[in-house]
Amino acid sequence: MIRIQGGRRLKGSVEVAGSKNAALPLLFACLLSDDDCHLTGLPDVADIRTAARLLERLGASVERHDPSSMTINCSGVDQWEAPYDLVRTMRASFLVLGPLLARFGRARVSMPGGCAIGARPVDVHLSALRLMGARIETVRGYEEASTDGLKGAHIILEKPSVGATENLLMAASLARGSTRLENAAREPEVVDLARALQKMGANISGAGSSVVEIEGVERLGGMTHRVIPDRIEAGTFLIAAAMTRGEVTVKGARAEDLRELVTALESAGAVLRDNGDGMTARCDKRPSAVNVATAPHPGFATDLQAQFMAMMSIADGASLITETIFENRFMHVSELQRMGADITLSGNSALVRGRVSLSGAAVMATDLRASVSMVLAGLAGDYQTDVLRVYHLDRGYERIEEKLRSLGADVERVDMEGPY
Ligand code: EPZ
Repeated sequence: MIRIQGGRRLKGSVEVAGSKNAALPLLFACLLSDDDCHLTGLPDVADIRTAARLLERLGASVERHDPSSMTINCSGVDQWEAPYDLVRTMRASFLVLGPLLARFGRARVSMPGGCAIGARPVDVHLSALRLMGARIETVRGYEEASTDGLKGAHIILEKPSVGATENLLMAASLARGSTRLENAAREPEVVDLARALQKMGANISGAGSSVVEIEGVERLGGMTHRVIPDRIEAGTFLIAAAMTRGEVTVKGARAEDLRELVTALESAGAVLRDNGDGMTARCDKRPSAVNVATAPHPGFATDLQAQFMAMMSIADGASLITETIFENRFMHVSELQRMGADITLSGNSALVRGRVSLSGAAVMATDLRASVSMVLAGLAGDYQTDVLRVYHLDRGYERIEEKLRSLGADVERVDMEGPY
């Protein structure tokens, strides 16, 4: 578990790791080529290790040079199955479907099933791949897919799904003919994937807007690519600075990726500065209440909603937080309530009446961002908080306790027996 003795103002400078959610599709994009792909700036987190394990199971060679760089070669891939044990551990494993189909004409990928934050169906991925000529059947919990050759198609996504957009970018890059993708996700991670695919020889235009056009090519080569910094980790540290009335420079924070959060933090009373290679957040007073509603990029990121709610729990005034992306992304509410937060849930909105202070408690959460919101709540008050089930944090935050300690926080990892 992580034990936090709260009440310290965070001060100093911290560097964010590479983006987990950009790195995962990049790792699977390597399946599209026989040549070496060099990725640097990878975060040293559990999900990246799971993705590397999946690539190895498929027959790829994965050479880890140091915790943040790998060379992947997929010329030896001779398996096409993403098994349940890995997909269950990490849903993003579903992103092998597009590349495997495009390159080998077949794939067998476990259905991800629901998860703590919602049902999370994959229908948008499947219907679009069918339009491109894939035959896909559900057999005993697996999506079994095959094709005699993917062909370009005009696809209008029912939702701007990040994962579906990524699967389709990869599939369409090696398909015959041109693909027009409308209502595509515009997240920075999608843009990073498109940039890497372009380095491999793909012909993609419009990534980062709602309409992306891809002209398929016959083969893709290798690439050398540095993963973009993690905007969610960056946002988490900026919120931590504001919550503790501190001053923190977050190296790697990119203002253009965090516009809605920056606006919300400024409305709450924080002062944000763009330093070019990062951002600084300072807050000298108790944050004010601010309403936010999550939305696809460039809207307020759902992956920052729990952290922002932790801040609103101690804000001056009442705020309304609305979650529009996932139907069940409020598991942190009951844990924040155990710490004394005054939150009323109604449908997909939470009314948060800020308290001057919460109280310490042992808490745990069922997903990564909910877990980190507990850490933030722990940092803000003058009490001890134990955050259990640290494995959620370790999936997406690199050495979080070390980074927080370097900013002056009193945080330690305490080994416990059992799956904590
Ligand atoms: C990505 O998940 C991220 N994961 C999530 O981050 C993030 O919360 C999410 O995008 C939204 O920004 C990775 O990048 C690995 P979606 P993804 O497909 O791609 C519905 C974190 O904490 N939908 O954009 O799975 C879906 O249920 C994680 O790091 C369908 O209905 O998200 C959701 O309501 C958690 N059918 C909405 O669309 C589909 O076929 C957005 O999901 C696909 C999605």
